[in-house]
Amino acid sequence: MTCERKFMSEVHSRRCSVTRFHFLPLIIFLVGLHAVEGIWPLPQTMTSSAERYSLDPQYFNFNYGRDSATQQGCSVLDAAFKRYFSIIFPDHISDKLSVFAERAALNAETVWGALRGLETFSQLVYQDDFGIFFVNKTEIEDFPRFQFRGVLLDTSRHYLPVQVILKTLDAMSYSKFNVFHWHIVDDPSFPYQSRTFPGLSSKGAFHPMTHIYTQSDVRRVISYARLRGIRVLPEFDSPGHTQSWGKGQSDLLTPCYKGGIPSGTFGPVNPASASSYQFMARLFKEVSAVFPESYIHLGGDEVDVSCWKSNPDVQVFMQKMGFGNDFAKLESYYMENLVNITSALNKTSIVWQDVFEYHERVMVEVWREGCYLCEVRRVTKAGLKVILASPWYLDLPGPTHDWVRYYTVWPLAFKGTEEQKKLVIGGEVCMWGEYVDATNLSPRLWPRASAAAERLWSDEKQTSSVARAFSRLQDFRCKLLRRGIQAEPLFVGHCRHEYQGV
Ligand SMILES: *[C@@H]1O[C@H](CO)[C@@H](O)[C@H](O)[C@H]1NC(C)=O
Ligand SMILES: *[C@@H]1O[C@H](CO)[C@@H](O)[C@H](O)[C@H]1NC(C)=O
Ligand SMILES: *[C@@H]1O[C@H](CO)[C@@H](O)[C@H](O)[C@H]1NC(C)=O
Repeated sequence: MTCERKFMSEVHSRRCSVTRFHFLPLIIFLVGLHAVEGIWPLPQTMTSSAERYSLDPQYFNFNYGRDSATQQGCSVLDAAFKRYFSIIFPDHISDKLSVFAERAALNAETVWGALRGLETFSQLVYQDDFGIFFVNKTEIEDFPRFQFRGVLLDTSRHYLPVQVILKTLDAMSYSKFNVFHWHIVDDPSFPYQSRTFPGLSSKGAFHPMTHIYTQSDVRRVISYARLRGIRVLPEFDSPGHTQSWGKGQSDLLTPCYKGGIPSGTFGPVNPASASSYQFMARLFKEVSAVFPESYIHLGGDEVDVSCWKSNPDVQVFMQKMGFGNDFAKLESYYMENLVNITSALNKTSIVWQDVFEYHERVMVEVWREGCYLCEVRRVTKAGLKVILASPWYLDLPGPTHDWVRYYTVWPLAFKGTEEQKKLVIGGEVCMWGEYVDATNLSPRLWPRASAAAERLWSDEKQTSSVARAFSRLQDFRCKLLRRGIQAEPLFVGHCRHEYQGV
């Protein structure tokens, strides 16, 4: 196995990389101990003892094990060693003193598993009042419950500066999220700067120079995410949610009619026009080259068909295709075209649940409120894979601040076969952008998204008690603050290192 391997298979591939930490035991002081409250998300099995070792930043270093398949030169782990050194020892710089001493071992089957292990190790280290670092003798065996653990950011309703996205990726890795679902464009703005169709952002972004993601911005986000074991899943939602596309691409959207004449407004992408599909084929060809991810999110939600109904060309097309007055068939025809376009590019399509109603060659994201487990049951019964988002909409202001709401979610609590349950591949926290920009993104996400992260990573039986999770999550939030993440408080309390502002 090489360091570059794709990582949906966190759990399945063969054992290969061994990482060792070296540290020297120091004199042990037994005063003012601030022990760790535990690891977040909770590992599958963990035994810790009161036997503890002090860590001296001067002598500490990360090494590749001698029999590890992965060695120095693996960019992902080389970078992770540096990063985690400064996370564990915030005020020190790594020097390369190699004194042989006590060691801890991390065995992982993949590079990406090793990253998760480094995160866990970093959370085991604590400091006493004298600033001495300790780690207790601990044994952990760990793997994720679900393979897809995502966070959606919406960069259309508000523009999020690249730095803010990168910071979110850092925070995501601390909670072991592994998918960044980039809802990059939508009705309000089109910030993605396309090579093939530069007009889309120059006319459709909030500002053509300052409120866009250039090709190099996108590359930067993808490579930053990759180093943290996070895949970037792009979403170009259509045929609805495309008002901003129309500004730079005339003839793409459907002209709406009123009283037999064009009203001057536009509806969803015009499904009756061959040029729409030619445009989409070219756009997705670019997108699939820019984003190495093997999945593409095609959206397909909330299509308002009233404009289609009003348009005479669409009506003629409906008759020609034999759809009668069934606009669901038209929408299905549109989505099938798009699924065909992306599968020709060797990508697997993900769609919002709306499309499941009339399409069956996709992976389905369940987002609507109500009995979402009924929907999960229905979709898995049809043999399709599911990503669950409904219970994890964290963007709304109001009485939704309580993390417990996002913790007490039981994704597999529906009646179904074992086969059906296996089709639930994970879940996703959604942070839609109506009320969210760089000013409030972090506190609105963290630590509530971490509650969802534990649900997606950890064993459900061991993490069913809210009371037992509370102090561990409070402690984890303090760790986030220490790492510069502006995570909001859960309740009354304090952290040893409070957030210092900027
Ligand atoms: C770590 O060790 C210390 C002192 O030896 C002990 O007080 C503490 O409870 C231990 N922590 C864990 C999580 O076992
Ligand atoms: C999509 O591809 C399938 C298989 O090649 C084909 O049967 C179908 O007609 C295509 N659908 C559309 C709408 O082009
Ligand atoms: C898709 O995969 C096939 C088989 O692996 C390959 O021959 C083809 O070139 C790929 N197409 C694209 C657009 O990458």
